[in-house]
Amino acid sequence: MKRNTLLILPLLLAGSLTAQTRDTLQLEKNWKFMKGDFPEAKNTSFDDKKWQTVRVPHDWAISGPFSISNDKQNLAITQDGQKEAMEHAGRTGGLPFVGTGWYRTTVNADSFGEGKRAVLEFDGAMSNSQVWVNGEYVGGWPYGYNSFFLDVTDALKPGENTIAVRLENPHESSRWYPGAGLFRNVRLIVSNEARIPTWGTQITTPVINADYAKVNVKTSFDLPQDANPQDYSIKTVIRNGAGQEVAQLTTPIALTAAELKHEAPVQEQVLTVEHPQLWDLDTPNLYTAYSYLYKGSKLMDEMQTPFGIRSIAIVPDSGFYLNGRKLKFQGVCNHHDLGPLGSAVNEAALRRQVRIMKDMGVNAIRTSHNMPAPELVRICDEMGMMLACETFDSWRVPKVPNGYNLYWDDWAERDLVNAIRHYRNNPSVVMWFIGNEVEEQSTKNGEGAKIAKWLTDICHREDPTRFVTNGMDRPHDFINNNMAAVVDIPGFNYRPFRYQEGYQKLPQRLILGSETASTISSRGVYKFPVERGSMKKYDDHQSSSYDVEHCGWSELPEDNFIMHDDLPYTIGEFVWTGFDYLGEPTPYYSDWPSHSSLFGIVDLAGLPKDRYYLYRSHWNKQQETLHILPHWNWKGHEGDTIPVFVYTNYPSAELFINGKSQGRQTKDLSIELEPSGTPEALKKLERLRRYRLMWMNTTYEPGEVKVVAYDADGKAVAEKTIVTSGTPHHVALSPDRTTIKADGKDISFVTATVVAKDGNPCLDAANELTFKVKGAGSYRAAANGDAADITVFHSPKMKAFSGQLVILVQADEKPGDIELTVGGKGLKNSTLKLKAE
Ligand code: GAL
Repeated sequence: MKRNTLLILPLLLAGSLTAQTRDTLQLEKNWKFMKGDFPEAKNTSFDDKKWQTVRVPHDWAISGPFSISNDKQNLAITQDGQKEAMEHAGRTGGLPFVGTGWYRTTVNADSFGEGKRAVLEFDGAMSNSQVWVNGEYVGGWPYGYNSFFLDVTDALKPGENTIAVRLENPHESSRWYPGAGLFRNVRLIVSNEARIPTWGTQITTPVINADYAKVNVKTSFDLPQDANPQDYSIKTVIRNGAGQEVAQLTTPIALTAAELKHEAPVQEQVLTVEHPQLWDLDTPNLYTAYSYLYKGSKLMDEMQTPFGIRSIAIVPDSGFYLNGRKLKFQGVCNHHDLGPLGSAVNEAALRRQVRIMKDMGVNAIRTSHNMPAPELVRICDEMGMMLACETFDSWRVPKVPNGYNLYWDDWAERDLVNAIRHYRNNPSVVMWFIGNEVEEQSTKNGEGAKIAKWLTDICHREDPTRFVTNGMDRPHDFINNNMAAVVDIPGFNYRPFRYQEGYQKLPQRLILGSETASTISSRGVYKFPVERGSMKKYDDHQSSSYDVEHCGWSELPEDNFIMHDDLPYTIGEFVWTGFDYLGEPTPYYSDWPSHSSLFGIVDLAGLPKDRYYLYRSHWNKQQETLHILPHWNWKGHEGDTIPVFVYTNYPSAELFINGKSQGRQTKDLSIELEPSGTPEALKKLERLRRYRLMWMNTTYEPGEVKVVAYDADGKAVAEKTIVTSGTPHHVALSPDRTTIKADGKDISFVTATVVAKDGNPCLDAANELTFKVKGAGSYRAAANGDAADITVFHSPKMKAFSGQLVILVQADEKPGDIELTVGGKGLKNSTLKLKAE
C-alpha cells in the first residue's frame, strides 16, 4: 500500500506533477437506484441487479410524471398572508420527490489498508441520508443541501467495498421543489493517517496593496496517535492562475505530543505574494495554495485550495466596497434547481446561468435559501460573480410541518459550520445569509434576536472576514426587537418604503434589499388592458409580460431601482428571482396545472423574459440594450390598443408603426424618488417612466414596429425593428455552445425558435416540436418555460411556448459529431451540427 514518495518529490518541487499521497475516487458511475424502502439493501449480499443503473448526480423525481397529488399541501402559507388552510397543488413542483429511495454502488479501494484513513464526502444528498459501508452504518446527515463527510476508515477494506445510501423526503417538508436523491457529487478519499482533513485550510489576505499581499494560511492536520509532531512540517506553495509559483514556505510543526491531544490542530503560516493580481468581477484572478504535510522528507498528504486576493468592506452611510471600489449589489436570488435537469448538479447548466446573469449586469447571486453546490461556488470564483451564501429558510419555528424545524436543535450549528468551512476560501463568497423570513422575527420573547446573534457569532468565529445578514420581511418587528441590529447588514425582504425608517433606527446605517420585486410574468404572454396589478390570475395560468404584475407583498423592478440608485445607505438588492424555479407557482397556489414559479427574470428554460432587458438596460452599463415589447403578431386585434414598451439604456427613443411616428418618449428623471412614500404612492404606473419608455395608446396594424434611440445629445444612435411574421415554416436552432466536452456530462443548450419562411420569429407559435439526436451525443431534455405545461422534460416532443423552447443535447464519452434534428407537424425539419471533443 505504501508509495514511494521520494521518487515523486523532485518532480513535485519542480511543480510539474503532484504526488499520489491520496486517492480521490469520484463515485459517479455504476450506482444502482430504487425508489422505496429496502432495509436489507445495506448488506453487501443484497441483490440489486433489477435496480435502475444511474449516474450521480441524480435526481430521482425530475422524470415525473407531474401530478396534482404529489405532495399536495393542505395548510395556510402565513408568509403570503393566507389565514386559513387551503389545498396547494404544485407548491413543490408536482414532482414525486416525497418518499424513500436507496442507492448502492461498489468501489475498489485498492490504495486502502493498514495505516490509511478513508473519508466519504457528499456534496449534498436529499435528504435524511443514512450511509452504510460493507453493511456497517457509518453515519448520515439530515439537511439535504449541505455538504458533509463521514470517516469510514473502520468500515472500509482493501479491494471491493459496497456503499449503500438510504434517503427519505417527508411530505410537507419544503416550500419549493427540493429535488431528491444523490443530487450532488460523492467521492471517497483514501489518505495516510497523517493527513490534512476535509476543508482543512483557511486562507485570508489581511494586507493587500499594489506591492504585495500577506496571505495567512491555517492548515489543519491529523497525525497518527503515537506520532511525535515535531517530526512533521507543513509546506505551502502558492501558484498564480498560470501555474507559476509565487510564494512558498515550510514550517515545522511546533506542537508537542501533549498539545496534539487537542482536536484538529492547526499550523499557521504567513506568506507574501508580490504584486498581487486581485480577484474582481471583470478579472477573476485566482491563486491556488498547495498544502503539503511532510514527515521528515516524506510527503504524507497534500491538498489544493483555490483562493483569491481581494478586499471587501462595508462603510456606514456609504456602502459596500470591493477592492476599494464602491459597488451596489445588482443581485438576484436563485433557487438551486436547474429547470429540466431538476436538482442534479450540472456544470454546463450552472455556467450558462452565470453567463446569462452576467450579461444582464448581475454582479451577485444569493443562493436562496440554502447552501449552494460547490460547482456553483467554483464557477462564480472563475467567472467573477459575487455570492451571498445562505443556509436556512426556517429556524426552530416551522414554515412547513416537516421542514428544518425538525433538525434545528441538533443540527443548526453543525450545518452552519459545514457551509462556512466549505466556502470560506472562495473569493466569490462575500456574505453569509443566516436566515430567510424566519418566524422568530415576530416571537415575543426576543428569541429572534438571540438566535440571530448566536448564528452571527458562529459565522464570525468560523470566518472573521465576511459579513452576516438575514433576510427579514416584517419591519415593524425586526427593526424594533433587536433582530436586525445584531447582524452586520440588515436585510430587508421587500417593503422598500420602510428602508428609511430602518436606516434611522438601526445601528449599522446601511440597508440591503435582501429580496426584492417578486414581479411575475410569463415569457411572451401579454395581458390587456395593461395596468399594474397585484396577485392577478388568468384562466391560462400565466402572468403578463408587460411587467406590471406582482404579489400582494411585492413590487415592480423600478420600485427598487429608485431606492438603490439614489440613496447612499442602500447597498443594493437581490431580485426574486434570476431564473424561474420548480414549485411555488404564486399566485396559482391551487390552480393545477402550474408547476413552477413566474418570478424569474429568465424562464425555466433559461430564455430571457422581457424583464431581462429592463434590468439589463439599467445594470449592464457596458453594452447597448434596445428591446421592444410585445411581439407584433396580433391577428384578430387589428385596430385594438396594443401598448408598446421599450427597454433601453438610451435616455429617449421614437417609435414608428409602419413608418408612422408614434412620438418620442424620454425617461422622466423628475419623477420623485419618494423614499418615505406610502405603499400607495409607490404604486403609480407613471413612476415606471423613470426607467422604461411606454407608448400606451398605440393601435395594432400588421407590419413593422421600429424604434430609434437617441443619446443624451439628441443624436439618433441605434434602431431596432420587429415585424408581424408569416405562418410557421421551420425551426431556427441556436446553440449556446457548438463544441462540448466528450465527458458524458457536458450539455449544449439549443434554443429552438419557430420561424416563418423568411426567418422572422413567430413568437406566438405553439407548434409541437419533435427532437432527434444522432452521433456522439444524446437527447437529454427540453423545456419551454410554460409553468402550466406538464409534459415531462425528457419527452422527445414538446410544444413551443411563445414560439420557443430549449433542447438539451448531452455529449457521450467518445468524441465525434452530433446531429440534432427538430421538426413538427407542418414544419420543415431543421438540423444542427454540434461537436463533442
Ligand atoms: C419571499 C420568500 C421567498 C419566496 C418569495 C415569493 O417572501 O422569501 O422564498 O417565497 O417570497 O415572493
